[in-house]
Amino acid sequence: MSAPLALVTGASGGIGAALAMQFARHGYDVALAARSADGLSDVAAKLAGKGAKAHVLPVDLAVPEGAKNLLQGLKDLDLEVDVLVNNAGFGDMDPVAQADCSKLLSMVDLNIRTLTELSCALLPHMVERRRGGILNVASTAAYMPGPNMAVYYASKAYVLSFTEALYAELKGTGVSATALCPGPVKSGFQDAAAMKGSLLLKLSPMMTPKKVARIGYRAFAKGRREIVPGLANKMMAASGRFSPKNMTMALVKRLQTQ
Ligand SMILES: NC(=O)c1ccc[n+]([C@@H]2O[C@H](COP(=O)([O-])OP(=O)(O)OC[C@H]3O[C@@H](n4cnc5c(N)ncnc54)[C@H](OP(=O)(O)O)[C@@H]3O)[C@@H](O)[C@H]2O)c1
Repeated sequence: MSAPLALVTGASGGIGAALAMQFARHGYDVALAARSADGLSDVAAKLAGKGAKAHVLPVDLAVPEGAKNLLQGLKDLDLEVDVLVNNAGFGDMDPVAQADCSKLLSMVDLNIRTLTELSCALLPHMVERRRGGILNVASTAAYMPGPNMAVYYASKAYVLSFTEALYAELKGTGVSATALCPGPVKSGFQDAAAMKGSLLLKLSPMMTPKKVARIGYRAFAKGRREIVPGLANKMMAASGRFSPKNMTMALVKRLQTQ
């Protein structure tokens, strides 16, 4: 019998590459998707060195036809997805009134639209076979509004809410849905979000992608609904849910000012 296949988006580096490594270590073949063909090939070579089969699918997932192109790429390679890891995403630190609106809309397309489209396309077959699952990478940003990164925080609130609802819908089907909600992680994210000068980065301890991926994989394998890696991040997420909203937003705004 062939190994199950995990499709990981945003697998050319950071948390996605580390998640691909976790799935490979646990007996999965992996399909790696992101824009950078070179980055994906480097990750695939590392996985092959550990004995895993890795397929490389270079694709831009922030364009409206991104998900369709990826699904076609999988079909061309005759690959059936058992586990979908929706990890590709980016943020941008800029107040909305000063931001590049086209960048914000690309963020919505990647963080929300593509994640939803891939889920809609791949879930029916998983349910039919009564196995598989979805691991969606949200963020502690999902638990509160994020002044100066408003669209990013809102996009992650969508990812968390969507995944929690999927978890309930899928109960009893043999298919699972898990939201991984990391706090700050050292990766390409900080450069992409142009947030290097922020107080948030100066003050926040950063986890490694490897540690986050290990915790995320374990939660997925147990069929958990959501997981926030690390005690400080758990407290941050809880305070987002239960503290007075104006107080939380004032703090987040202060932390996210450059
Ligand atoms: N780092 C953090 O502090 C943090 C915290 C909480 C949640 N997260 C979430 O974790 C996920 C992974 O981020 P990361 O920290 O690993 O950041 P990263 O190192 O910047 O990785 C982002 C990945 O997404 C891919 N990607 C970006 N734009 C894409 C596009 N248009 N089409 C296809 N792939 C694209 C990138 O590859 P290419 O550039 O090759 O396309 C890369 O593989 C994101 O959803 C992020 O929101 C990150």
